[in-house]
Amino acid sequence: MTADELRSKYIEFFRGKGHREIKSASLIPENDPTVLFTTAGMHPLVPFLMGESHPLGRRLVNFQKCIRTGDIDEVGDPVHLTFFEMLGNWSLGDYFKKEAIEFSFEFLTSEKWLGISPDSLAFTVFEGDQDAPFDAESFSMWKSLGIKEQRIAKRPKRDNWWGPAGQTGPCGPDTEIFFWTGTGNPPESFDPDNKHWVEIWNDVFMQYNKTVEGIYVPLEQKNVDTGMGLERVCAVLQGKASCYETELFMPLLRRLDSIRGVPTTGTRENAERIIADHVRTAVFMVADGVLPGNVDQPYVLRRIIRRTLLKGRQLGISCSFIPDLANVVVDSYSKCYPELSDNRELIATELRQEAEQFARTVEKGIREFEKLISRVPEHIANKVISGKNAFTLHDTHGLPVELTEELAAEKGFKVDREGYEKAFAKHQELSRQGAEQKFKGGLADNSLKTAALHTATHLLHQALRQVLGDHVAQKGSNITAERLRFDFSHPDKMTPGQISEVEHIVNRIIASKLPVSFSEMSLDDAKDTGAIGLFADRYGERVKVYSIGDFSKEMCGGPHLESTADMGRFRIIKEESSSQGVRRIKAVLER
Ligand code: ALA
Repeated sequence: MTADELRSKYIEFFRGKGHREIKSASLIPENDPTVLFTTAGMHPLVPFLMGESHPLGRRLVNFQKCIRTGDIDEVGDPVHLTFFEMLGNWSLGDYFKKEAIEFSFEFLTSEKWLGISPDSLAFTVFEGDQDAPFDAESFSMWKSLGIKEQRIAKRPKRDNWWGPAGQTGPCGPDTEIFFWTGTGNPPESFDPDNKHWVEIWNDVFMQYNKTVEGIYVPLEQKNVDTGMGLERVCAVLQGKASCYETELFMPLLRRLDSIRGVPTTGTRENAERIIADHVRTAVFMVADGVLPGNVDQPYVLRRIIRRTLLKGRQLGISCSFIPDLANVVVDSYSKCYPELSDNRELIATELRQEAEQFARTVEKGIREFEKLISRVPEHIANKVISGKNAFTLHDTHGLPVELTEELAAEKGFKVDREGYEKAFAKHQELSRQGAEQKFKGGLADNSLKTAALHTATHLLHQALRQVLGDHVAQKGSNITAERLRFDFSHPDKMTPGQISEVEHIVNRIIASKLPVSFSEMSLDDAKDTGAIGLFADRYGERVKVYSIGDFSKEMCGGPHLESTADMGRFRIIKEESSSQGVRRIKAVLER
C-alpha cells in the first residue's frame, strides 16, 4: 500500500465513523512560544482538548506534518526522522476508550481497510501507579476483541503515558499498538523491548489535567488523541526494513544517486539517509515561512542545511545538490501540501543561498582544521582537540563545534566539548564586559538599560505564567541599571528545566522584535482588557497598560523601550525563596 492510499484510507475510514477532516496545521505553532515546532497532531488542538468547542464538532481526523528534532543525532538509522506525517483521529469529549480501540482494531485488521492479521499485532497498556490506576478498561477491550493476554503488556508511565513532561496540562494513559516485523511467526508472548515489534499507533486517553502541584485531576471532558506514524506504517505494510525504502524517500535517493553518478542499489549509507531526511525537513520548514537564521526555528533550519551539506561533502558532491533534491520533495508532496509548490522558488533560492554561503565557510574552516591537526601535535595528545582550539575554529573560522566533532570523528579524534563550552562562556563574559565599557562610553545610558530591564520584567512575568500557570502574580519588583529583581507567587522552587524554558520564551520574544506600546485608561477598563500587574491603589484612577506585541499586556508606570529589538540576551542568574509562597528571580540582559 502506498502512502497516498494509506492517507486516503485513513481519512475515509474515520469519515465513515462521523469524523470531519481538518487540514494539517503549520509546522510553526500559532500563539505558543513554548515549543518551536508542531510535534504531534494534537498540538494545534490543545485548546479544544481543554474544552473549547471546535467549529467542526467533536470527532476530527487528519494527517499532520510534524517535526521532532530531539533525536536529530539518531537520524540515519532506519527509524528516526526529523520530519514525519502523523495520521490522527480525535474525540473531543465524545467517544472514549471502547470506541477508540474498536476503531483502531477495525482499521488495522478488516480486509476492507489494512487487512493486517491480528496475530501480527501486540499491545501495551498503562500498568497504574500512585497517580492513576491500571488501565483495566483498555486491557479488557483488547481481550474482548480476541487478543490473548500474553500479547498485552502492562507498562509504567515512562512508556504508556502521553502528556506534558513535568508540566501542566491535559494528559493520560495510552495504549500502543505494535506490529511484528521479524522473520517467521511472531512469538506467542509479547516483549515490547524486542526491536522486531515496532510501534505503529498510539491511542491516548486524555482524562487528567496535571496541575502545578503535580496532581492529576480527572478532566471533565475526556478526550481521545491518536497518532499513527505514516512513514513507519508504510514501511511495515510494504515489508520494508526502513522508511527510506518506501516511495516516500526513494525518488529522493534515486535523484541523489544520479547526482553522484552511482547506480541505485539496495544498500544505503547513513549519510544518504540523513541527506534525504534533512532535505525533506528543510523544504517543509521554508514552505511554512522559516528562513535560516541564528535563533529558534531559523537556527534549527540552518543546522539542518549545514549538516546536509557536510554529509554531501562526505559523499563527494557539492552544495548544488540541495536545491536539486528540494525540487524532488516539492514534486512528490505538493498534492497533499500545496504550500510546497506555492513556494517552490523561495525554497530553492533560500536553500541554495544558505548552502553556498556555508560551503564557502566550511571549505575555509576545514583547511584550518586540517592545518590544526597536522601542525600542533601537543594539542592533540590522546587524539583530543582542545576546547580552546575547537572554539577558535568556531569563532575565527566559522566552523560550528558539531561539525568539528564530525570531522574529528572521521579522523579518529575527539573534541574536548567541556573545554569548548568553557572557552565559549569566557568569550561571552569578555564581550559582556566590553559592552559595559561601551555603555560607559556613552553608547547607551543607564536610563536605557533600566528601561530594557523594565520591558524584560514584563516578558518574564508573562513567560512565568505560561510555564508555571496563571497563579503567578507579581508580588514586588526592583530594577537597577544592572539587573532586575522580580518577586511572584508560586509555591515551589523552579526546576532547572522551567528556568531555561522561561529564559527561552523571553529570548524568543526579544528575537521577534515585538513593538512595545501603551494606552491610558481607567483602572476598571484596564482590568477588563485582561491586563496583568499590581492592581494596587497607588495606580490612581487612570493607568497605563503596556502591550508587547500580542505576548504581554500589563499595567505599569514604565519606563519601557519602544521595541524588544536589541535588548540583548535574557538570563536568570538566581531563583530563590523570598517568603512563604513567594519566589524571587534575579535576571540580567547580556550583550
Ligand atoms: N499525541 C500522541 C502521540 O504523538 C498520539 O503519540
